[in-house]
Amino acid sequence: MIIDGKQESALLREEIKKEILIIKEKTNKVPGLSVILIGDFAPSQIYVKNKEKNSKEVGIKSEIIRYPKEVTEQEVLEKIKELNNAKHISGILVQLPLPQQIDKEKIINAINPLKDVDGFHPINVGNLASGYKAVVPCTPLGCLLLIKKVEKDLSGKHAVILGRSNLNGKPMAQLLLKENCTVTIVHSKTKNLKEECQKADILVAAVGVANLVKGDWVKKDSIIIDVGINKIDDKIVGDVNFDEVKDKVKAITPVPGGVGPMTIACLLKNTVECFKRLNS
Ligand code: GUN
Repeated sequence: MIIDGKQESALLREEIKKEILIIKEKTNKVPGLSVILIGDFAPSQIYVKNKEKNSKEVGIKSEIIRYPKEVTEQEVLEKIKELNNAKHISGILVQLPLPQQIDKEKIINAINPLKDVDGFHPINVGNLASGYKAVVPCTPLGCLLLIKKVEKDLSGKHAVILGRSNLNGKPMAQLLLKENCTVTIVHSKTKNLKEECQKADILVAAVGVANLVKGDWVKKDSIIIDVGINKIDDKIVGDVNFDEVKDKVKAITPVPGGVGPMTIACLLKNTVECFKRLNS
């Protein structure tokens, strides 16, 4: 089975659109999302445009706040403060990566955790790890929703996560732990990477190495989620060698058209969740 992330994303976005219509009818308000984009890094430009387009389609009022790459940290911090206090804004997202003069930690810490639609603020990270109510980072949330489309009960499954980033690997581990999986995180310094991956009932690959996971790295009938977006010549490929793996496993996400579209849908979901909490 090839998991159709585009279709799942469309279904989720349709649900969100309906929910926003109901919110609008009840409150005469719609969720607002501010995206701060610094510099001219090409992939960020594309991601942010996509976020804005998708937000508008479901009825979220979205704005992109652009700064040149030379902007000072102080200027961005002041804007975040203003957005934290703005009643019509329920979500604030600062697109990463940031230019080197800007301290990522300071920026993330400045965002009101209740408006932190990325789920990167330490309060949200801590709440997720503690099993409390948290904003969950969009990519791992999207991955979990796709996994659960294939298998509802993940209890006792062995999940292996390739990659230990704050963006994906670590929150993915928390989410799968909450689902009662046995979770292993493997990374660039792990010994016997292939053997560890072979144990996985669920394998989530998020390391940014093109075609790293080969046909003989995966267990028969497992679920493979490929978060990688890598460019080879002009082709986008994942971290999993799709052609070698696809016939061996129960389900796999393609790249593109797998996790990517779900990430955006989950950003919209988080924006609505933040709106509801702020207005409850
Ligand atoms: N850059 C790449 N992915 C992301 C993301 O999910 N959130 C933000 N803020 N920046 C990113």
